[in-house]
Amino acid sequence: MRIYCAKDYEGMSRRAANIIAAHVVVDPACVLGLATGSTPVGAYQELSRRCAQGDLSFSRVHTVNLDEYVGLGSEHPQSYRYFMRKNLFGQIDIPPANTHLPDGLAPDAEAECSRYDRLIRELGGIDLQLLGIGHNGHIGFNEPDQAFTLGTHQVRLTQSTIEANARFFATEAEVPRAAYTMGIKTIMQARAILVVVSGAEKADIAYRAFLGPVTPQVPASILQLHPHVTLCGDLAALSKLMEAGAEVCG
Ligand code: F6R
Repeated sequence: MRIYCAKDYEGMSRRAANIIAAHVVVDPACVLGLATGSTPVGAYQELSRRCAQGDLSFSRVHTVNLDEYVGLGSEHPQSYRYFMRKNLFGQIDIPPANTHLPDGLAPDAEAECSRYDRLIRELGGIDLQLLGIGHNGHIGFNEPDQAFTLGTHQVRLTQSTIEANARFFATEAEVPRAAYTMGIKTIMQARAILVVVSGAEKADIAYRAFLGPVTPQVPASILQLHPHVTLCGDLAALSKLMEAGAEVCG
């Protein structure tokens, strides 16, 4: 694993954008796995800026997002499809047909999960998967104690994730109780993984995920077994890892 440590959120976002942009430059038709949440927003802004300046093109890129709330359609402001359109897809030159998320309104959950796994396979797999980490160590919506062997599936959200995500909704009661998520198996099949972490409140989970034991209780800990992971964080988020002697490349 390579660890890049930036001074602050802006620096971390630029680093993450550099890594994503490098993948797109090397393979303009690559498949990017993307995440929502607060952490990647700065990287998305940086990529949007480079695209607007004509330095980067996503015209042949395909994207597959990690997850989507069950029950929210693409026009719902809290749906992940809406988030991606607002924060990235609407700001870059990617054809909308090249952007993929699970369909929160699909009538048949099992069929939707199979369709999504089939789609990823037909695209040739994911070249670079971007991940944030939840406070409980979740990646995508793979909550603690779920099997490491799953593909795309439907999950019930834990109380801690509902509480963490309530900040995006008017009330906690409005947070959907279920979501579709790529499974850990799908994530681990990505050829490369980029994890972004920011802020002191992520320091403990970053430490447990990357220096603690590999255990389903901390889903992100499985990433220690992936051969090509880059962790990109700011000083606050990486403080505990660095205190424990983790090697940082820059
Ligand atoms: C987002 C996702 C989640 C987030 C995680 C961290 O698509 O799947 O696992 O990456 O909850 O969220 P932030 O970045 O808001 O701390």
